[in-house]
Amino acid sequence: MNTPPVIGPEAPAALADLLRQAAPSRLFVLADTNTARDCYPRLLAHLPAHELLTIEAGEEYKTLATCAEVWSWLTAHQADRHALLVCIGGGVVTDLGGFCAATYKRGIRCVGVPTTLLAQVDAAVGGKTGVDFEGFKNHIGVFQEPEAVFIYPAFLQTLPPRELRSGYAEVIKHALIADAPAFAQLHGLRVDAQPDWTATIQHSVAIKENIVTQDPHESGPRKLLNFGHTIGHAIESYLLTQPGREVRHGEAVAAGILCESWLSAQRNLLSAGELTEIAGVVRETFAKIQFSQLETEAIAAYATHDKKNRADVINCTLLHGIGRGVYDQAITLAEVRAALDYYHQAAL
Ligand code: GLY
Repeated sequence: MNTPPVIGPEAPAALADLLRQAAPSRLFVLADTNTARDCYPRLLAHLPAHELLTIEAGEEYKTLATCAEVWSWLTAHQADRHALLVCIGGGVVTDLGGFCAATYKRGIRCVGVPTTLLAQVDAAVGGKTGVDFEGFKNHIGVFQEPEAVFIYPAFLQTLPPRELRSGYAEVIKHALIADAPAFAQLHGLRVDAQPDWTATIQHSVAIKENIVTQDPHESGPRKLLNFGHTIGHAIESYLLTQPGREVRHGEAVAAGILCESWLSAQRNLLSAGELTEIAGVVRETFAKIQFSQLETEAIAAYATHDKKNRADVINCTLLHGIGRGVYDQAITLAEVRAALDYYHQAAL
């Protein structure tokens, strides 16, 4: 990214400044049906003349077909290589819009305005763009940093509580892998009470940016950001196949954080007291995901399909104490099953 993200009430005015300086040949704005209704009107006064495209909201529209819609719209409006695309939305809009911008005429400038907590602390930071393909999440994409990112915490007031809680799992994760004092500050934070998010987001984004700067293309330390995701993603993927039992990404990550913390404790990397502390913070926000013991086998099988694995080894990030992640930890299928059993049986 050319400049660090602007985070706070000044974000809309800073967006206007950036757009003035960028002086694009034409300005394009991408939103989805939710953000076109709830967020775009609050930015309108800060946007110079532009074209707006509203796509359907939801992960099911994070497809190449929607990309074709975006590319056709840019083409119909004769966007040239000096055009600029502003993406206003959650992870679907910022990932998909970033991918469309990176590939249209081999790349036009893109600006992210993430509107969910998940996108503000994670998806819109770090330059991962892409879409889902043939049932695989983020299967097609490129690394491409946006020109700039503007994070306006007031947009979080427009979110359903469940969506807000989902993003909070990534806040917990960032603190656990890299910043013990930040984790201590999460005790007692009541997500549903709409706290002032600015400082929490600033801190969480700084942790992620620091990691991404060291390893933009995920050959080393960026794997720390996968903490909670090996087992979390397995739970999310399995429940996606069970109609009516789907969970939000962050809900599954919160469960994954507990399972992978338990595995860390099993390897004596984490103390029993630390595990209890982590379980306490997770429990303050997340209800336990229900699955039967019989289902642990099917869930564990998904962990073997994770795109972060190499050959038959399940690659996981664990904790060596609160605030210190360790990546490239090989775990077995039996360990994944045992961690799911712990989660299933634990009084959470
Ligand atoms: N969401 C993990 C990463 O950006 O690497």
